[in-house]
Amino acid sequence: MTYNPARRLFLGGSLAATAAGATGIITPAALAAGSSVAAPHVMYGPQAGIAKLNANENPYGPSPAALKAIAEASSTGGAYYAYQAGMYLTDMIAEEYGLKKENVAITAGSSLILAFAAYAATSKGKILGPDLFWDTTSKAPISQGGPDIVRVPNTADLDIDLDALYNAIDDNIAMVHICNPNNPTGKVLDTKKLQDFCIKASKKTLVLVDEAYNELISDGPAHSMIPLINQGHNIIVARTFSKIYGLAGMRVGYMLGSEENISFINQYGLGGYSINQAGLAAAIASFKDEAFKDFSRDKVMEAKDMIMTAVKANGLTALPSATNFVFVNLGDNGDANAFRAAMEKENVLIRGQYRTYKPWSRVSTGKIEDVKMYVDAMPKALEAMYKA
Ligand SMILES: Cc1ncc(COP(=O)(O)O)c(C=O)c1O
Repeated sequence: MTYNPARRLFLGGSLAATAAGATGIITPAALAAGSSVAAPHVMYGPQAGIAKLNANENPYGPSPAALKAIAEASSTGGAYYAYQAGMYLTDMIAEEYGLKKENVAITAGSSLILAFAAYAATSKGKILGPDLFWDTTSKAPISQGGPDIVRVPNTADLDIDLDALYNAIDDNIAMVHICNPNNPTGKVLDTKKLQDFCIKASKKTLVLVDEAYNELISDGPAHSMIPLINQGHNIIVARTFSKIYGLAGMRVGYMLGSEENISFINQYGLGGYSINQAGLAAAIASFKDEAFKDFSRDKVMEAKDMIMTAVKANGLTALPSATNFVFVNLGDNGDANAFRAAMEKENVLIRGQYRTYKPWSRVSTGKIEDVKMYVDAMPKALEAMYKA
């Protein structure tokens, strides 16, 4: 099949397939059947008694202000296209970062604009990334005959190896994709090193930094690469309302970049048409809600402390996490898939194995009572894993 990224308007194939049934309609059954975020669902969330710790959501959202805005926007605006609210949020975001509205693209979740960026990049060349990162969107073009990601090994500490990435940039590379903090490791890069890398690498190719978890770092703004866009470097940054804002189900995300990069990427999808009134209302009400962000950060810290204490008590180790999830090393005989299966028997949903990283298991923070279920189930699940 000839590869034609322009055919993939709206949703990348693999993204759609993750959540949609044969009809293309996202049903709870399709969600439960198809993907790594599968969970026994009632219509709008996990069943009571199920600790859903597998998709890095913030179950303390939406905030009270967002809930009020959702109700209001749905009743007065549900019948209408969401143009004004879309423009309002775009302006809010542009103003926050000292950019113009032409530097901002908002879509239904950041996955969509990230997938558009992947299609745009692969119309010119290949995407370069680490071995271990959130690669879903940069893999999306592959189903259309696009190129596979060129990968560079992580360091022994599972950090992103910026020097190796830089050395791997050649004329075939159209974009470098970095997540900071990274998923699934939870690690954050040294800001100065990442800045230096971005400035150097962006002279050779487009650099994408996905900052989905930035707001979870206590000094998030200090870690952001957005100022490099203001300085004119060839860098795009993605952000989402799905994590700290607790709006994963409301589907709002955005990308920032030069006017030229944003309009090039927007050619690969009609992103503005993907956004909805209720999601926008929630995002607008949440964007500057510092009290809710502080509250969420505190809950994440509390949950991470519980996870880290349990990890230690069970003789295991975990990577330091700047995010709302922890990458746990289950040890030499560890098996993340067996551990996930054993946890599921205890009604705790976590992630299984990533690529070749068999002993590494990712658990999200969630409601404190759900994290307690994980902690309580850990000895039993480890025993079952060793027996498997
Ligand atoms: C690094 C990263 N970027 C983007 C996303 C997707 O977020 P959204 O809900 O905005 O599509 C995720 C989801 O887990 C993620 O981990």
